Amino acid sequence: MAEAALPRSRAASRDVVAGATAATGARVVAQGLGRRFQTPHGPVDALRDVSVTVEPGTFCVIVGPSGCGKSTLLRLVAALDRPTSGALTISRPDGRQPTNAMVFQGRSVFPWLTLRQNVAYGLKLRGVPRRERGDRADALLAMVGLKGFARAYPHQISEGMRQRVAIARALAVDPDLLLMDEPFGALDEQTRYLLQEELLRIWDRTGKTVLFVTHSIDEALILADRIVVMAAQPGTVREVIDVPFSRPRTLTGVRSDPVFTSLFGDIWGMIREEVTRSRAAQEAELPR
Ligand SMILES: Nc1ncnc2c1ncn2[C@@H]1O[C@H](COP(=O)(O)OP(=O)(O)OP(=O)(O)O)[C@@H](O)[C@H]1O
Ligand SMILES: [Mg+2]
Repeated sequence: MAEAALPRSRAASRDVVAGATAATGARVVAQGLGRRFQTPHGPVDALRDVSVTVEPGTFCVIVGPSGCGKSTLLRLVAALDRPTSGALTISRPDGRQPTNAMVFQGRSVFPWLTLRQNVAYGLKLRGVPRRERGDRADALLAMVGLKGFARAYPHQISEGMRQRVAIARALAVDPDLLLMDEPFGALDEQTRYLLQEELLRIWDRTGKTVLFVTHSIDEALILADRIVVMAAQPGTVREVIDVPFSRPRTLTGVRSDPVFTSLFGDIWGMIREEVTRSRAAQEAELPR
């Protein structure tokens, strides 16, 4: 069984953001977690025996080859799906019920709502009075650099701006746990860099636990406290890597550190092995 214990690495107290109380962040504990899908071609173990502990306030990034179960893991943590084996516990240090919010790649905003209405949507569902939810939405839009765009509609802004709205929308409900599945995957490089820095700044202020999936090793090294490298077929934890760069981080600071090059090489070596292995397994299954 692969065990990944992610220690709390940051101070607990954070600023109050946009009227939200300072969140403490959730603890996520997976023990021997498995998810088997039944398919016409037989059972598929998307995840097998995954044991991971993510401490409150940790920025945890999951990398691994396509099909190794990253999205499946996030969906289980978000309670959008149920494990077929093992246990998953999500808790808050104060014993209260933790909340989460999910940001996907490019499909997290409603096109028929203004940006302010998009960000305020979750608050409306929770019965927050109109005035208060408008104020909170405006504060969050300002935080993600979209102050003048509250009345705009999603089609009137760029993809990068839409992703910022999606992040603001997720933050509006003040979740203890932010689940992000390749949120910057479809963006151009410059926008991605800006959003990475912005996300780090927001995370630093809010103290949430973040589970972030990416295919980019570079992105993982810039954002994470720890990186969970997954192996494919079945999806298991292959390695957990501590990311030693001090915070606050900048892209140039992290990239110019010699440790960056060596960690990049280590992680790429592992992923390369996994991709090669899973391709060989797929080819062996093809009819001759
Ligand atoms: N609903 C489902 N039914 C059957 N198989 C599924 C289902 N969902 C996922 N799988 C399988 O589980 C495995 C893991 O899928 P998952 O989407 O979690 O991978 P991933 O790591 O997120 O991949 P990617 O990097 O391409 O997004 C794959 O083999 C996939 O085909
Ligand atoms: Mg996925």
